[in-house]
Amino acid sequence: MSILKNKVAVVTGAAVGLGRAYAEALAEAGVNLAVCDVRDEVMELPELLADDGVKVLTSQGDVSDPKHVKSVVDGACEYLGGIDILINNAGVWGASTADDDLDKSIADYESIVGTNLKGEYLFGRAVIPIMLAQARGGDIVNIATDHMVTCGTPDHVCPDLESCPWGESPRPTGGGDAMDLYDAAKWGLNGLLYAWAKSLAPHGIRVNAFCMGATDSWMLRSFHGHNPPQEEVDSWMRAEDNARVLIELLEEGPSGRNAQNINFCIGRPVALEAPNDHRYVRAEQVKVIS
Ligand SMILES: NC(=O)c1ccc[n+]([C@@H]2O[C@H](COP(=O)([O-])OP(=O)(O)OC[C@H]3O[C@@H](n4cnc5c(N)ncnc54)[C@H](O)[C@@H]3O)[C@@H](O)[C@H]2O)c1
Repeated sequence: MSILKNKVAVVTGAAVGLGRAYAEALAEAGVNLAVCDVRDEVMELPELLADDGVKVLTSQGDVSDPKHVKSVVDGACEYLGGIDILINNAGVWGASTADDDLDKSIADYESIVGTNLKGEYLFGRAVIPIMLAQARGGDIVNIATDHMVTCGTPDHVCPDLESCPWGESPRPTGGGDAMDLYDAAKWGLNGLLYAWAKSLAPHGIRVNAFCMGATDSWMLRSFHGHNPPQEEVDSWMRAEDNARVLIELLEEGPSGRNAQNINFCIGRPVALEAPNDHRYVRAEQVKVIS
């Protein structure tokens, strides 16, 4: 039986794509869920997950709206008995370049930074005081991208760089010059990752991030007008494999890795890579709650 059984997770952006795969994998491990999304399909999850025998609380709303965030978190506390796991997954993609006009840039900021950075920040701020008050540890996983690890986190360059199929070592941000704001929002997650991991380690709360390359999802298919060439699809990673690794990460428990950007690169197996040293969180700072 998974050590996750009967825990409670909040999963944002759970209607489709990776978020739905995370919700499915968590439910299979026996985790009760508070799932939210702007899309209607989030309401399908209780029926979809009924066979897993877990409780599923659904909410429709925008992660950049503090009122929505509060209602999801309050609901999880009231109906599910607290929060042990936060999967900060909701994300949007958008093209943006250095010479975009100001009106487009302001709209982009609201949408791209609003979802990919503000949403994760607000959910963290809403959930962390609850985890601290519960005093039973916890896990936060921010869903980032390979765009901001650029073949290694800011301080750990990928050991397999020489054999990388991309051939550029290390490549610049994955978005090149066409996604400056998406990349900036995701890079911003490093600030939350390191600061939260350091301050929460003494309370048995781990904070990690997933940094994946192309993974089959609604978002990725939208780049190809929802009709991607099969050859392209075959090269992508699978959301359910990524979700399996999420469960593996959570099952490491409180003494597991912390403050890590965990990479998933196309052309390699979707697996939990070996942890790096804790550069930001020293072992003696970590409280292990059993
Ligand atoms: N699929 C990939 O290749 C890939 C690669 C790198 C990173 N990511 C990241 O993974 C996460 C999931 O992406 P995906 O590929 O599954 O995308 P997706 O579009 O398939 O799913 C994203 C979900 O988030 C929801 N969402 C978007 N904006 C929201 C908002 N403001 N409030 C609430 N919900 C919102 C969407 O409605 C959708 O259900 C994102 O953070 C994305 O940036 C994905």
